[in-house]
Amino acid sequence: WAANAVGLAIAYLLGSIPTGYLAGRLLKGIDIREHGSKSTGATNVLRTLGKWPALAVLLVDVLKGVTAVVFARWWSIGFSSWLVGSSPSTAEPQGLEFWIVCLAGLAALSGHGRSIWLNFTGGKSAATGLGVLLAVSWPVGLGAAGVFGLTLASSRIVSLSSMLAALMAIALVCVLEQPLPYRLLVIAGGMYVIARHRANIQRLLSGTEPRLGQSSF
Ligand code: G3P
Repeated sequence: WAANAVGLAIAYLLGSIPTGYLAGRLLKGIDIREHGSKSTGATNVLRTLGKWPALAVLLVDVLKGVTAVVFARWWSIGFSSWLVGSSPSTAEPQGLEFWIVCLAGLAALSGHGRSIWLNFTGGKSAATGLGVLLAVSWPVGLGAAGVFGLTLASSRIVSLSSMLAALMAIALVCVLEQPLPYRLLVIAGGMYVIARHRANIQRLLSGTEPRLGQSSF
């Protein structure tokens, strides 16, 4: 259990890497949490710092999610077997290991949304969530990314696209054959991402949510 707790803490720390905040500090000397939507995510980096920093932040944030899941697989299957001196029976997670991988995914999401380095503030975990999805079940990840792309192309509203993508992931994971822990991870993670968009939902309802390319709030 101690080894599993350490693995989860590492996944949380991976998610906590404050990519958008660092981009703001390094490129413009600003605290991005005082600008635009105040989020440290790639969308707010796009508004505040421009296209290329946003693309870099998006990529790293997706990779944080992928890495947390891949790391947790390795940690729960390989490292724990090494600790007790046996060789892993399989390269696929089973039983408890499934749960560790899922908890690591959630830990990475909450690390991005509530970073230990930023006084437990951060982003809305959509990009890191996509990384987690792609690593846990790529068809679900691709389905969610597809809905994101289509919604963004038609509405040009990133928050709406992120939330519909999260709902699509939840729907897909319920319909496709997936292990129970993965289903629970995607349902809990999707709800977490939507809950992080509270302020966006209020702006959407009042018709003031900025579209891509608009910076006014
Ligand atoms: O992934 C975050 C996005 O959905 C919304 O970001 O900055 O417009 O609140 P923002």
